[in-house]
Amino acid sequence: MNNDESHLDGAARLAANYLRTIGKRRVAPSVSEIQALDALSGPLPESSLSPAEVLALVDRIGSPATIATTGGRYFGFVNGGTLPAALAASWLVSAWDQNVSLRVMSPAGAAFEDVALDWVLDILRLPPTSGGAIVTGATMANFCGLAAARHALLRRAGWNVEEDGLFGAPPLRLVVGDEVHISLLKAVALLGLGRQRVERAPVDGQGRMRTDALPDLDDRTIVCVQAGNVNTGAFDPAAEICRRAHERNAWVHVDGAFGLWAAASPRFRHLTDGFGDADSWATDGHKWPNVGYDCGIAAVRDPDALRGAMATASAYFVPGGRREPSQFSPEMSRRARGVELWAALRSLGRQGLAALVERTADHAARFADGLRERGYEILNDVVINQVLVSFGTAEVTRATVARIQEDGVLWCGATEWQGRTAMRISVSSWATSEEDVRLSLEAIDRAARECRRPETLA
Ligand SMILES: Cc1ncc(COP(=O)(O)O)c(C=O)c1O
Repeated sequence: MNNDESHLDGAARLAANYLRTIGKRRVAPSVSEIQALDALSGPLPESSLSPAEVLALVDRIGSPATIATTGGRYFGFVNGGTLPAALAASWLVSAWDQNVSLRVMSPAGAAFEDVALDWVLDILRLPPTSGGAIVTGATMANFCGLAAARHALLRRAGWNVEEDGLFGAPPLRLVVGDEVHISLLKAVALLGLGRQRVERAPVDGQGRMRTDALPDLDDRTIVCVQAGNVNTGAFDPAAEICRRAHERNAWVHVDGAFGLWAAASPRFRHLTDGFGDADSWATDGHKWPNVGYDCGIAAVRDPDALRGAMATASAYFVPGGRREPSQFSPEMSRRARGVELWAALRSLGRQGLAALVERTADHAARFADGLRERGYEILNDVVINQVLVSFGTAEVTRATVARIQEDGVLWCGATEWQGRTAMRISVSSWATSEEDVRLSLEAIDRAARECRRPETLA
């Protein structure tokens, strides 16, 4: 091992080359590129390699088998790309190798995190005094919000859940919409609240919770609402739900993995009205804001509820007087994710963030219009960046999705929406251009025509 840093220049060159050529390659790797990953298998060799040799192998074997999520034509799941400033900041963060657990362990990491969290609260129109955590994604952010809710509701009932656990605790209720995201149920399971115990409230045709069918709420209930359904992009009627919940002293948690960022845009802000009345919120930096993987954010109106659920101390691990990052988050050792979040937001500024939200939503509308014009059925009201399209029968739709994925011009996944099979288009990347949408529409149309049975062709 030596201290020669030339491999870092090499890494920058390889990364730049990867990004420069991303638009020209297939979005999903070919079968042979995936098969070539077999070169990784086998026992760990006895001999060592130089950093440059290791990197050459990572690039040669790994790069061709990546999914081109940082290009402009990846519309799968709800995955953002990575903004240039966020990517560059993440390199520096890796070089710093900070452990942002206690402030004394990384003054810089903690300071960037403080400011990034304040900015997020401000952009999302959440109470400025909320407690916050930067975590790996919305799943862990949901976990944080529900852990704070569990702490606060049980404390009110005279039970200390962190000390005494859930055995024998007063039961809590959880109310979710029938189109709840699976990550929220994962958080429910991790917290010992029981996936089977949740009460599912009926939803309308867009997946929004129906306030006329909300169960009775009480002071042992956590109600989970969504800002941005993963299929339709729809928003629950948060103002009315928060009002009804708070009349009964229930807790409202918001899963706003991507939808909450609509608040950044003057055009779409109204969709998030009422969500700020809730008690806890979960969102992602790696989706709409394009921070790069991974970055999620949790916020809790009462910072003591989050701290109560997460804080820990020992003789060697003594929190200081100011906000200590790990006292609000599930992990002790933590990457300096706040720097990447800060860098993404600082590079965009308020106007750039609004433009990113609006541009991607405009692309989604372009997809919906273009597909309708070509005779395909759009199954959702396209309110933000999500489009659901059917190409006919479930069989034809599934075959079309498979053909599109095989072609490699773009990548979209399939879903089931209230009994219909659909293809989901999520426009979440800063890198998507009008030309990407045009090329993708052509490729989608071509695949759909090929997959339609001859008798269904006009
Ligand atoms: C509404 C919603 N909640 C939660 C999640 C989970 O987010 P993550 O994968 O960042 O944990 C997603 C992911 O798409 C989502 O759309």
